[in-house]
This record gives sequence, structure tokens and C-alpha cells, in this order.
Amino acid sequence: MAVNELIHANDYGLPLNSFVWLETHHQSKADDRIKMIKQMALPWEGFIVDVGCGPGLWSPLLAQEIGPKGHILGIDISEESLNIANQRSQGTWYQDQVEYQQAPLDSLPIEQSSADVIFSANVSQYLAKPVEAFAAMGPYLKPGGRLIVKDIDFGEMSFGGVDPELQKAVFLARRRWEKRRVQCGYQYEDSWVGSKLKRYMCDAGYSNVVVYKYPIYRRAPLAPEYRTYLQGIAEWFICEEAPYLSIEHRERWRSVFFSLRNCILDCSDFFCREVEYMVSGVWNAQAQPCINNLLAGHTQDRYSGLSQDSEMLASSLA
Ligand SMILES: C[S@@+](CC[C@H](N)C(=O)[O-])C[C@H]1O[C@@H](n2cnc3c(N)ncnc32)[C@H](O)[C@@H]1O
Repeated sequence: MAVNELIHANDYGLPLNSFVWLETHHQSKADDRIKMIKQMALPWEGFIVDVGCGPGLWSPLLAQEIGPKGHILGIDISEESLNIANQRSQGTWYQDQVEYQQAPLDSLPIEQSSADVIFSANVSQYLAKPVEAFAAMGPYLKPGGRLIVKDIDFGEMSFGGVDPELQKAVFLARRRWEKRRVQCGYQYEDSWVGSKLKRYMCDAGYSNVVVYKYPIYRRAPLAPEYRTYLQGIAEWFICEEAPYLSIEHRERWRSVFFSLRNCILDCSDFFCREVEYMVSGVWNAQAQPCINNLLAGHTQDRYSGLSQDSEMLASSLA
């Protein structure tokens, strides 16, 4: 593939967002996701807004937890994803419980104080201003309503059987590139967002913020969909010409994950560890005036601590 391609992009130009890719990712973690949603103890017969719902993969999981009288509104900016979500729900047991609408997440097509839960999976990584976005969603929640955000954090990802020095170089290069890529015309991405969500939610005025961490561990032999997922991730790490990675490292990475005869994913000692985050917070309407003031002067350096990258990566790979 050409290294500067946007891989698996959706119609909105976000990489790793095509519905085919999202379906593979979903299948590869289906059991983990069921567990995550169960642990959130969603309100029976509640109204859930699934923000950035994509192709609607979480809808049946949410519907199962809120019961047949509960309702889900999925919103997304991607028309293509919404079409797929609609098609997917047609004729299913949860069809009458869901509807999908095109809208940006900071301007929801619902009444204020109407949602029991706003749920968002794998979206916060694309928010250039997450505190502002979370604060904008708060007023749509009923008093005591919750925002639940699920996302990745590649700071805790590691591949067993792959040279740690190579992993460190690839991860660090991607992390540095994510700080620069917007200036080069790409959409914002932070693949290290999971561990920052608690701070973002607190800054946005939520209280009782609770962090749930889900370690995901897979070893050889890999299920086909997890193998496809990992190969996509490996490809994504070196896409967009990986400007902060040496050619030597890029070629080694490519040969480790894409060699036809010697692919690491087929080795018996291969494993992958990653950690996903689910963070829940209760909207605190009393905090609204303070939040407005805060947002007016909000200058957050999301990237402070860059000099600690090497240390963090070293510990995650240990
Ligand atoms: C990685 S996909 C996740 C889809 C789904 N939640 C899942 O986990 O399968 C991210 C989705 O967020 C949507 N999205 C990104 N920014 C958004 C915004 N500002 N408002 C609404 N949707 C957004 C994208 O179009 C995409 O469908």
C-alpha cells in the first residue's frame, strides 16, 4: 500500500473509521464490549444517546441492558455510517428501540435535560477540544444523568515477540506525529486519550468520575478478526509516511507484521496486550456557570509531558 494513504477511512476522512474496519474491530472484542456495557448498569427503560455511533455496533448491547421499553438515539456526522446503522437494525429484535440521526456531538437533536445517559465509544480520540465537547453535552442530560466515554490508550499496548526497541521507536514516532499532523492537513487524533479522560471529564464539570480499565490480552493462535485488526493497527502506525520514524525502523516493522512467510502474528510466542478505558461521570448542572468561565479561558496543553514519552513507553513495554 502507499504509505501516505488514509487507511480504512470513513466518508468524513477519519482513518480506522470505515464501517468494515469498525465491524472487524467490534467482532474481535465482542465479549469484552458486552462486559463493559454490563458493568455500566444502564437505567432500565432509559433513554441513551450513542454519540458517534458509527455503524451502530453498540446498539444491541445497549438495547439489551435498557430493556424493550428503553430507547437509543445514535448520532454521527458520517452519513455513510448512519445508513449502515439503519440497515443493520432493520428486522432485528431491537429495531423499534433505535433511531439514528446525523448531528455533531456538541449540538444534539434532543431536548435539554432529556437523556439518562450519553454514551460515546472510540470518538474522544478525534476531539481536538474534549473538555469543551464534554461540557457541551452535559446540559442534554437529566439531573443525575451520566456521560460514559469509552476509548483506547496505546500507551499500554505492547506486542510480545516484537523487539521492544522497535516498538518503542514506532510508538514514539506515531505519538510525535499525532501532535503535528493537524498542521499538515489531517484531522485531529489522540490515540493516547484513554488515560486523560478522567481529567477531561472533571474539567468539563462532571462529578463522581469513575475510571474502569479493561485489559485485553490475546495470544497465538489469533482469531482471524483479531489478526486482521492487529494488521490494520500495524499498518496504521506507519501510515501517512510516518515522518518521525526512520526508514530502517519502518521497513523492519513492515517485515515483522506483513512478511508472508514470517509474520509475527503467526508465531506461537506472539501476544498482544492493550488496555481500553471506560470513564463515567455524573453531570453537575450547578457547575455550569463555572464551566462557562473555564471554557472561555481554556488553554489546555494536552501534550505537556512529551519529554516523558520514552519513560512511559518503556514502562508499558516492560
Ligand atoms: C471510531 S468510530 C466509532 C464508532 C462506534 N462508536 C464504534 O465504537 O464502533 C468514530 C465515530 O465518531 C464519529 N464522529 C467523529 N467526530 C464526531 C463529531 N464531532 N460528532 C459526531 N460524530 C463524530 C465518526 O464519524 C465515527 O463514526
